[in-house]
Amino acid sequence: MKMVKYQHLVYCVLLFISLIDLSTAARSNPPDDVLEWVQKDDRRFLRANIRVGDINRTIKFYTEFFGMKVLRRKDFPEVNISNAVIGFGSEETQFVLGLSQHHSAVDKLELGTAFSHFGITTQDIYTMVEKIRAAGGVITREPGPVAPGGTTIYAFVNDPDGYSFELILRPPSPEPLNHMCLNVVDIDRSIDFYEKYTVAMVGYGSNYTQTTVIELKYNFNVTEYTKGNGYAQVAIGTDDVYKSAAAVEQAIQELGGKIIRPPGPLPIIGTKITAFLDSDGFETVNPLSFSFCFGFLSL
Ligand SMILES: *[C@@H]1O[C@H](CO)[C@@H](O)[C@H](O)[C@H]1NC(C)=O
Ligand SMILES: *[C@@H]1O[C@H](CO)[C@@H](O)[C@H](O)[C@H]1NC(C)=O
Ligand SMILES: *[C@@H]1O[C@H](CO)[C@@H](O)[C@H](O)[C@H]1NC(C)=O
Ligand SMILES: *[C@@H]1O[C@H](CO)[C@@H](O)[C@H](O)[C@H]1NC(C)=O
Repeated sequence: MKMVKYQHLVYCVLLFISLIDLSTAARSNPPDDVLEWVQKDDRRFLRANIRVGDINRTIKFYTEFFGMKVLRRKDFPEVNISNAVIGFGSEETQFVLGLSQHHSAVDKLELGTAFSHFGITTQDIYTMVEKIRAAGGVITREPGPVAPGGTTIYAFVNDPDGYSFELILRPPSPEPLNHMCLNVVDIDRSIDFYEKYTVAMVGYGSNYTQTTVIELKYNFNVTEYTKGNGYAQVAIGTDDVYKSAAAVEQAIQELGGKIIRPPGPLPIIGTKITAFLDSDGFETVNPLSFSFCFGFLSL
């Protein structure tokens, strides 16, 4: 029992972006070819962790309406936390969501404005929306094309905590959990300056309809967002956390950001991870102060 508790505390520390460094791992000097290596690294988005108000309610919603499956679930009564991993398929191959409920949390769950939404592809958007509506769910945008005559049909719905999900009508895809979207303040503003917003898709695959990507959205004239405490972290798979950390350090020197956990094995669990804030000034409330981590966090 003691071990389980300890493991979980480690997980929480990471999940909530603690600045405490638990490792004594030595940092490796960045090899010259590290950026070249990044191009060959076998990367993909593994999981996004979010905090929820009632884990059973969220599980019911995601399984019933979105068709996700519970992959793992564990309660930690010692720390009053319940966790679950949920997704459309095995976490060995798919991007999944990590849910965490803090039963004795005194702070209110705040979603903030920086996290925008998750995107899910479906073959029957109209039925999905009607089922959610019939169950009293919130539809924030009715299904329809982006513009009259447009070919992509999409809708927006809220989950019971208010996390926003974009539903997109598309043929079957190997990754129905298709993207997550973060609002940013500093995306290249010269692109489409007169458009209402600018969107960039970043990911590891060559075809964004087949792999999960992160959508970065610059909303014209919005210079500040609140991060809240709901959306926590995205995990990215890598072949080598030390080389990945070296590459991140190079990026940070150029663009800003912060390593919040140097690369190294987690105590007891042994999984090697590194965690960082991707930022151009994380002191200010800025959506790129989201944290990312290379390596797999075990639940
Ligand atoms: C939540 O679901 C779990 C597993 O199905 C169950 O053991 C637990 O009692 C449920 N909690 C509540 C508050 O209903
Ligand atoms: C768990 O919750 C119970 C009841 O609210 C409380 O008495 C206890 O102190 C909490 N334990 C922790 C570790 O937060
Ligand atoms: C991406 O994949 C979709 C679905 O398999 C396919 O229809 C589309 O042509 C692909 N696009 C590119 C640019 O390869
Ligand atoms: C942005 O702000 C400027 C100055 O307040 C205003 O003139 C302009 O209409 C705004 N643009 C948009 C797209 O809201």
